[in-house]
Amino acid sequence: MTRPRTVVVTGGASGIGRVIAERFAVRGCPVHIFDIDAGAVARTLAENPSLSGTVGDVARADDVARGMQDAVASMGRVDVLVNDAAIPGPRAPLEEMPEDEWDRAMRVNLHGPFLWMKQAVPGMKSRREGSIVNISTGSVRTLPLNRSVYNASKWGLEGLTKTAARELGPWNVRVNAIRPGMVNNERMRGIVRRIAEQEGRPAADVEADFLQFISMRCKVEPEDIAEMAVFLSSRRAGRVTGQVIAVDGHIEWEQ
Ligand SMILES: NC(=O)c1ccc[n+]([C@@H]2O[C@H](COP(=O)([O-])OP(=O)(O)OC[C@H]3O[C@@H](n4cnc5c(N)ncnc54)[C@H](O)[C@@H]3O)[C@@H](O)[C@H]2O)c1
Repeated sequence: MTRPRTVVVTGGASGIGRVIAERFAVRGCPVHIFDIDAGAVARTLAENPSLSGTVGDVARADDVARGMQDAVASMGRVDVLVNDAAIPGPRAPLEEMPEDEWDRAMRVNLHGPFLWMKQAVPGMKSRREGSIVNISTGSVRTLPLNRSVYNASKWGLEGLTKTAARELGPWNVRVNAIRPGMVNNERMRGIVRRIAEQEGRPAADVEADFLQFISMRCKVEPEDIAEMAVFLSSRRAGRVTGQVIAVDGHIEWEQ
């Protein structure tokens, strides 16, 4: 019998990350969550007693090292790393973008996955098996205005994904990314509400604007993203690496 894969999910205390953590757990995988929000970590662990967790900031190397130690203490090793934690960052025209907020978004969204990969890769290489799944965004196609740091950080994450796939392929360590589309969750509803308020229009109209550029005219559920993360980390995807897979109902924007 093959042993269950052990999984770390950053940002695993809420949103899509929590759903990813729970999807791995229902398949019998030991899961360790790592999240900056102590209250959300406590709630998630209370509601999922099989999970373990660390409160920490992906942007801080010492926190990430502590998270890795906790994960290994609790699960023995890390076979799968899902880099989900991210922040939207500031919304501003380039010339008004506050430099400290730019730096913070880059550190969370790009440096954080790098720090976690740095921790998890040595064990994966030594076992000659591992899967890393980085959560990008459909915004790299639609390029929403005034969100240069978010878009750039996720393009950076996709570049890191493809480079790492080349570097780690010889060790049977696979690295892929998922581009979620318009996710049916609070964060996306907040974006729609804000645009509706700014433009004095009903939220349903704003949502319809988004949907007309999606072939399937649909939002996606966090579960859709979680199922793809589970698949990419499974042995069924054993020859899939260096790929960026959109789960978005097909966003039609040209690149
Ligand atoms: N919601 C969407 O519509 C959407 C669309 C495309 C891509 N995404 C991506 O999916 C991922 C999850 O998004 P979500 O909507 O679930 O977000 P969310 O804000 O609901 O959850 C993010 C989680 O990450 C944690 N986190 C934030 N900063 C952290 C840090 N520095 N260190 C550790 N943990 C931190 C938060 O506490 C939270 O639990 C992100 O990478 C996001 O960019 C989301």
